[in-house]
Amino acid sequence: MTETETPRRPRAIAVFSQKGGVGKTTTASNIAVALAAAGKEVILMDLDSQGNVMSSFCGQPAPLVGAYDFLVEAVSFAETWKRMPFANLSIIPATKALAGMELEFASFEKPQFALRDRLASVSTEADYIIIDCPPALGLLPVNALVAASSVIIPVQCEPFAHDGLINTLYSINKIQSNLNPGLTVHSFLLTMISGEDITRKMAAIIRREFGPRVYATEISRAPEVAAAAARDVPLTVFDPDCLALIGYVGFVAEFLARERSMKDVPADMSAGAPEQVAGAAAPPDILEFNEMVFARLRKWKQALEKQDAPSFIEDSVPSRLAKAGVLSASAPPWPETEGEQAPI
Ligand SMILES: Nc1ncnc2c1ncn2[C@@H]1O[C@H](COP(=O)(O)OP(=O)(O)OP(=O)(O)O)[C@@H](O)[C@H]1O
Ligand SMILES: [Mg+2]
Repeated sequence: MTETETPRRPRAIAVFSQKGGVGKTTTASNIAVALAAAGKEVILMDLDSQGNVMSSFCGQPAPLVGAYDFLVEAVSFAETWKRMPFANLSIIPATKALAGMELEFASFEKPQFALRDRLASVSTEADYIIIDCPPALGLLPVNALVAASSVIIPVQCEPFAHDGLINTLYSINKIQSNLNPGLTVHSFLLTMISGEDITRKMAAIIRREFGPRVYATEISRAPEVAAAAARDVPLTVFDPDCLALIGYVGFVAEFLARERSMKDVPADMSAGAPEQVAGAAAPPDILEFNEMVFARLRKWKQALEKQDAPSFIEDSVPSRLAKAGVLSASAPPWPETEGEQAPI
């Protein structure tokens, strides 16, 4: 890098909704994996003390350091993230200590800016930092929204979805006006879509009201999501061909196309779609893109199956290895450091 070159900064994308249980964690995890499969270097940061992100990654042991330690400046950025077995993907996990972070912020001079300021000084080759937020509007999600350049809002199409979305947009508007004028609403992503009448009606209402800000791709409700979670594997790897996953890969294709054509979006969230930059790169050839991503996801699945063939889907990898006496129940199924085993 020459002196005139500025270091590449990763784009921080918050996955946020004030409403609980709408698919934030499922979305954050699966788009992180799909982006990694698309060749982007991704860091997935868990800012929810429930810690659900890590538990869906192949039974990784309870992490000792994570987002909390990074926020309180106890560790450097490089000590915070953990390489996943899948190429291009790292996780900054949530540890139990994160549950006390909201109280600890009281001693910070500028608590809303803690994450933004910490990230400003890090050096990383990552293209994206995807941040999974807890529900409600505490200081942790505020930190995510202040540090992020864009936010993705999952919307579960059920009776209170519209109210939840309006509350979420109101909060985001406040953040834009007072704390982060550069924050753009990337998209609303409709999740857990089923054939039920109420779901379809809510989806139609939200599309009518918010138009092109709602991504064309929808995430289907699929039993494989729970099955994947129960087996500690991201859906994207558990069953690359299931309907919900096809949705997440389609979403990532749309996301990347929108990223390429996005220019500063007006702070007014009710405005139309992000403007297209004249001469912006054309969207990728979608068939070629899908072929590349699905091929990599299937390769990852096969590699995991080989770890403990033949019944990968019967049980989680670590617990099966433990049962077979290969691994103690608490031992990590994956190498602690990247160097010991190349990512698949
Ligand atoms: N497409 C889907 N099909 C079926 N179940 C799903 C789907 N997406 C998410 N779920 C399930 O819905 C529940 C809530 O999902 P998730 O944990 O992603 O939501 P969340 O918004 O992160 O919740 P919280 O607000 O508690 O953090 C989980 O049990 C998850 O497995
Ligand atoms: Mg969650």
